[in-house]
Amino acid sequence: MADPRIFVTRQLSIDARTVVGPGVEVLVHAGPDAPPRGLLLDLARGAQALVTMPTDLVDAALLDALPDLRVVANHAVGLDNIDLQAARERQIWVTHTPGVLTDATAELTFALLLALARRLREGERMVREGRFSGWTPTLLLGHGLRGKTLGILGYGRIGQAVAHLASAFGMEILYTNSRSIRWGPEEPGPEVGLDTLLERSDVVTIHCALTPATRGLLGAEALARMKRGALLVNTARGAVVDEGALVHALEQGHLGGAALDVYEREPEVHPGLLGRDNVVLLPHLGSATEETRRRMAELALGDAARVLRGQTPLHPAVVGRLSEVQA
Ligand code: GLV
Repeated sequence: MADPRIFVTRQLSIDARTVVGPGVEVLVHAGPDAPPRGLLLDLARGAQALVTMPTDLVDAALLDALPDLRVVANHAVGLDNIDLQAARERQIWVTHTPGVLTDATAELTFALLLALARRLREGERMVREGRFSGWTPTLLLGHGLRGKTLGILGYGRIGQAVAHLASAFGMEILYTNSRSIRWGPEEPGPEVGLDTLLERSDVVTIHCALTPATRGLLGAEALARMKRGALLVNTARGAVVDEGALVHALEQGHLGGAALDVYEREPEVHPGLLGRDNVVLLPHLGSATEETRRRMAELALGDAARVLRGQTPLHPAVVGRLSEVQA
């Protein structure tokens, strides 16, 4: 009998075969870009496991087109690209990569926050373009972080790691737990309702999962509740923010700036964000360190191989067919 096969939808930062070991075949789609649906189905046909990226849409149609599939191992912590209910109904395991990208994402959040608050983008461009003509007392004044209030929307692993870094910068913390986001009366904190978080924070940073409850959560009404001049940072999922409403809030001068790693219709970016000096934009780099991407690949491939060998995966989000698992 042929070895069971894992299909990996993108070239990873490590050689997948070194992780998986003997007895399981690995096929990797060569190239950094997502294979279009037709090609993906051709390449993945007969595979029992898929290793997917956050940009791969795994819906019921895809699951039905790959009847041999037993596990989808997402090379990401977020699972919003996967129809979990469809996987549940078909008893297909879904796994993800929690924990290993917490620090990388928290660090990038601070890189963005500092870049925005201290106007790094404008300063860097000034120097490169030969416009720096010497120190002056008023050149590119930004804002310090000590004593400012950081509102953390979503207090899971990454939100808590951001709080830890923020305390070293002397920031006050407010947070709202994304699993029970509530709008409520004024509270003392640090755990508060979303309206209090928005109204009291100098910086709001997003760390919740994208779910039906959080999609578009920061729309016009929520952004209007933020303090005048407040900053918004998003390293979670773009669609938590209504980008059109964000552009409007920036144009009106209501918000002081935004730093984004993720976009509502990624990889498209709202044109109203592109020309603004008070906006910092990155191409979804939250987990992009050598160390983290290696661990993510190891976790995803390891769990895919475990299922194919009849073992329970280490990081399941959906439990698949138990009959095929020895535990
Ligand atoms: C990346 O965006 C992830 O969810 O891991």
